[in-house]
Amino acid sequence: MGTPAPVGKLDTLVSLCKRRGFIFQSSEIYGGINGFWDYGPLGCELKSNIRQSWWQSMVRLREDVVGLDATIIMHPAAWKASGHLDTFSDPMCTCKSCKKLMRADQTWEMLADNELGASLTELHANGQPDSGRVEGWCNGRGKGLAPGLAAVRNPDAVLAAVGTRLAGTAFRNFVSLLASENPAALVQPCPHCGGELTEPRPFNLMFKTIVGPVEDPANVAYLRPETAQSIFAQFLNVITTSRQSVPFGIAQVGKSFRNEVTPRNFTFRSREFEQMELEFFIRPDEAIELICGRVATLADNPDLSAPQENWGWQVWHKYWVEQRLAWYRRIGLPDASLVQYWQEPKELAHYARACVDIQYAFPFGVQELEGIAARSDFDLTQHQKHSGKTMEVFDEPLKLAAAKLDEAARAAFADKVAAEWAGRGKSADDARAFVAKLFEGRYIPHVIEPSAGVDRLALALLCNAYAEEPVTDDKGKTETRVVLRFSPRIAPVKVAVFPLMKNKPELYAKAREIFGQLQRRWNCFWDESGAIGRRYRRMDEAGTPFCVTIDFQTLEDGTVTLRDRDTMKQERLSVAALKEKLDDSLI
Ligand code: GAP
Repeated sequence: MGTPAPVGKLDTLVSLCKRRGFIFQSSEIYGGINGFWDYGPLGCELKSNIRQSWWQSMVRLREDVVGLDATIIMHPAAWKASGHLDTFSDPMCTCKSCKKLMRADQTWEMLADNELGASLTELHANGQPDSGRVEGWCNGRGKGLAPGLAAVRNPDAVLAAVGTRLAGTAFRNFVSLLASENPAALVQPCPHCGGELTEPRPFNLMFKTIVGPVEDPANVAYLRPETAQSIFAQFLNVITTSRQSVPFGIAQVGKSFRNEVTPRNFTFRSREFEQMELEFFIRPDEAIELICGRVATLADNPDLSAPQENWGWQVWHKYWVEQRLAWYRRIGLPDASLVQYWQEPKELAHYARACVDIQYAFPFGVQELEGIAARSDFDLTQHQKHSGKTMEVFDEPLKLAAAKLDEAARAAFADKVAAEWAGRGKSADDARAFVAKLFEGRYIPHVIEPSAGVDRLALALLCNAYAEEPVTDDKGKTETRVVLRFSPRIAPVKVAVFPLMKNKPELYAKAREIFGQLQRRWNCFWDESGAIGRRYRRMDEAGTPFCVTIDFQTLEDGTVTLRDRDTMKQERLSVAALKEKLDDSLI
């Protein structure tokens, strides 16, 4: 095995992606456009394999999930209902000196990543800054790096005011002391020039557009910031046409758009990206209690291998976390690179009961790949309220179970629900109305939402796959091999086919014939130029797991040479055995 990704802060990978045709800057010939990326020949195959694998695992291999492919632009009322129009915003501030706009909650992160941050870290000297050096920095290097910083603009006054407080203090405090004329007011400086920042203001992340020829506010629409809302908006159509009943899910893969204030870290935070989202609708726990007598929770330590009728939201949520982690493992992300971050109650949206972020250890830090949220009945309730269309389902087993209760049992159940709801700050009237509906077999389903990003995952897979290792050729010459160790399941090209020589018609024709056969099943690459060793190296960089060489022996006995990307071992086998081997490792 070679050394793991020396992805020198991502730069090595960014250049490989461009050189090998994975990812290009959008509109590069015009200087590019920030936050937009195009996927080249290898990149679009990688993404397509990610999508297909997700669809296979979430839809095709299940009987309780169906698909949807909805439009990117929806009726704007949908975004009012979902809350995106009012609350889907980032806090944004402007530097009063250099006028740059930035996310107010990312200024420290940005400082940690740039030259100014590195210079200030050095000056801070782990809490033991030398006052003479600080003064020298403010009068020298600081002028170029941080012309807006208070201590650079006015070193005598600021350094005199902070006095001995610079020593023994944490980095952020140290920088804040240098950033303000008033040492009592600790401020975050602009990460670009050290200047003073304006108060944060909310900035809505939805891209606006106009539908139709008239530029009138009445015609404003939005590019969807998530695929989820169209699933909720089509919930009734899907349930009435798909012969599904709760619990069941609706899955969708598609583009989403967010006018991110600071797109960064290559494709990690883009303005146009793709999501793979599942909305899995479940019965409210109260309905399960009526049907099953008791709701299974995680305290019961349930077996999560196959869904059970008595599972409450907590178990369903955990089930989906486990399902999703298993899928990440299957497509090649090792457990050690994945982190489960369970959000604290104070971090949760008011309607959410739990949310887990599945994170990956990117070269720029551990960051979210996917969120798995238990969102209660919030979304369908909002769409019911705003559209005037009922989102309730009728659940026959629930009605039958309720019918078995006598008056006293019904009253006791209603009291119990009202008490539980009161504990969650909900009104007794709402609880009683909800219970009355339950007794009729009706409710608005709750939802568990695993929501992943195709682009972030493609980036994680590239980071995980990248390796460099020394290899020595037949002549004893050592060179560095760059290899992308993708799982064969998601590798863009599965098999490369090489004729040993291109000027031997019979051999060439045989190679084309074998290539044609393999091409019907797998994405293959034909390469007839250069020494075989060079061809192997090119395929290593593309992450192609198998290379097949057709030589003179093939003409005699029909066997080919199969070379494995990771072990670099070669074996001779028949074309039939080759197909079997490919099947085993690719399916
Ligand atoms: N419907 C829920 C939802 O959209 P989210 O956490 O905002 O939740 C889900 O997004 C996933 O979409 C993220 O985990 C990430 O993989 C991807 N994603 C979100 N914003 C992104 C961006 N600006 N660039 C790339 N991927 C993004």
